[in-house]
Amino acid sequence: MNKIKSSEITPEHIYLSRRDFLKSMGIVSASAAILAACGIAPTESAQASVAPASDTQLTVPPSADTDELGGALNSFEDITHYNNYYEFTTDKERVADLAEGYPTSPWEVRVGGLVNQAKTYSIDDLRKFEIEERIYRLRCVEAWSMVIPWMGFPLSKLLAEVQPKAEAKYVRFETIYDPEGMPGFKKNPWYQWPYVEGLRVDEAMNDLAILSTGLYGKDLLPQSGAPVRLVVPWKYGFKSIKSIVKIDLVAEMPTSLWMAAATNEYGFYANVNPAVDHPRWSQGSERRIGEFSRRETLMFNGYEAEVAHLYTGMDLTANF
Ligand code: MTE
Repeated sequence: MNKIKSSEITPEHIYLSRRDFLKSMGIVSASAAILAACGIAPTESAQASVAPASDTQLTVPPSADTDELGGALNSFEDITHYNNYYEFTTDKERVADLAEGYPTSPWEVRVGGLVNQAKTYSIDDLRKFEIEERIYRLRCVEAWSMVIPWMGFPLSKLLAEVQPKAEAKYVRFETIYDPEGMPGFKKNPWYQWPYVEGLRVDEAMNDLAILSTGLYGKDLLPQSGAPVRLVVPWKYGFKSIKSIVKIDLVAEMPTSLWMAAATNEYGFYANVNPAVDHPRWSQGSERRIGEFSRRETLMFNGYEAEVAHLYTGMDLTANF
């Protein structure tokens, strides 16, 4: 296995250790930060929190150089230069270039539908939520994966603010629709734009589901879905919708862009499942970016303890 040296995974601009940094910000004790990095579903008391980003970009070193299973973090370079973002291009290695300088401020996210308190959030409003670090595996449906130190906050906290009504059964997310600013719309006109994704409300309330505004302690770059994207680590990466402008609570299961594109290939649930192959390739193993040999794919991407209960009694082959 190709091991990444920690010197290669530490971003270049980090001069303060995380501990000194957090102390200087007067934020959390070092032990809380370490606990948060090790725990997949940190409790309130064990969450590392970081002050909201201001105009100056804060750079916070990740609290660990592996995930809780010992997988090395992918480098900032890998995470920001090997991307899926079809609104720009289908070429993973060109997304970063094409997205460079894409304006993501000002930005608004309208949250509404079946809620009691519809609200439009500016990106500054979103940064007022307590920002936590979550080191997660991202497993793309194309059978590659990475380990990413995200910054963000639980989606459940935003949903609590808007107060879903009892009839709300699903959450529907929408990416910005900008055919003039993003070249992929015109190049790939056969997709049903804008990019839409969805979760069941109980999935959305699970503590692992976050809205991310940064990674490696820096604000998200456009190619990663700036200024705010969803991260649902137990599902294939396509569920982690980027550059969100709209979130609606709805009664019916939303049709995602990928469901509309190929119903037999991409289901609504898209839970990582090594036992259910994609019709055109196996999902039993994956290539971790930066490694030579393949790894076994884990049920629910290794988050079975946290999420398996959401699917009790469901046929996961039919509900793929
Ligand atoms: N969101 C939008 N709006 N457009 C996309 O093309 N691609 C998805 C997901 N979110 C995509 C998107 C896919 S297929 C994956 S694997 C992840 O983003 C990739 O996230 P990354 O580029 O940050 O690794």
